[in-house]
Amino acid sequence: LSGFVSLVGAGPGDPELITLKAVRRLEAADLVLYDALVSGEVLVHARRAHCFHVGKRSGAPGVKQETIHRMLIEAARQGKRVVRLKCGDPFVLGRGGEEVLALAAAGIPHEVIPGVSSALAAPALAGIPLTHRGLASGFAVLSGHAEEAWRPILEAVAPGTLSLVVLMGLAARRELSAALLTRGWAPETPAALLLAASTPRAAAWLGPLSGLAAAPIPAETRGAPATLVVGAVADLPARAAALAAAAAPAALPRAAGQCA
Ligand SMILES: C[S@@+](CC[C@H](N)C(=O)[O-])C[C@H]1O[C@@H](n2cnc3c(N)ncnc32)[C@H](O)[C@@H]1O
Repeated sequence: LSGFVSLVGAGPGDPELITLKAVRRLEAADLVLYDALVSGEVLVHARRAHCFHVGKRSGAPGVKQETIHRMLIEAARQGKRVVRLKCGDPFVLGRGGEEVLALAAAGIPHEVIPGVSSALAAPALAGIPLTHRGLASGFAVLSGHAEEAWRPILEAVAPGTLSLVVLMGLAARRELSAALLTRGWAPETPAALLLAASTPRAAAWLGPLSGLAAAPIPAETRGAPATLVVGAVADLPARAAALAAAAAPAALPRAAGQCA
């Protein structure tokens, strides 16, 4: 008897941004292993499952990756329907590929259910289209976690040629901005720092690349996940707001005797 493992994307945080297929897998699950950034509100769908938190946040120790592999494999060998629930999309900077390889090597049947990645959702919810005719025909998503990973990518991208989306880049935003400015990106290039996107704590800073390093973090979003965007597209929310203000009907002069 062999169970089955579903690697499922939970979306960026808003419990309504999970897919129907993900909800169906949670409803049928015996065991759910979930990551730190998964909203507790999506776990309500896993009514009959045991749910275990196996995530780690900002350097805090979590369950080792090899232990997660072993837990998935052992539960499937006991015939369980297992959901491995990850924030966003399981294959975007989420180590989902490693888990698929471990399951494949152990001969465990499995599937991947994509999720709405924060790399797309955070900009979209802030009104930033990652591509826009005349501004950017493409975008790159990179991890800001380890300098040896992001620096070669930034050095390979010609300044201003695409939209950059950096996950796990909050702590290194000073080094990331400095690397882009040194590489020749204009200091006035629009940039955004998007915190806790799609959640009630969501906050956004929009400004020039030269201000990204010192962008203030509101106290209520300390410790929240952040997505950085750099590129001309990050100016779209300001342009849209200016157009909306210009299109708003002018206030009518108040008639004599009218109450305020
Ligand atoms: C380990 S990566 C996983 C990314 C995930 N697989 C995805 O597709 O969104 C975690 C990073 O995603 C970003 N992130 C996740 N949720 C976010 C949110 N609600 N708002 C902004 N960024 C978020 C942050 O950069 C965070 O450090």
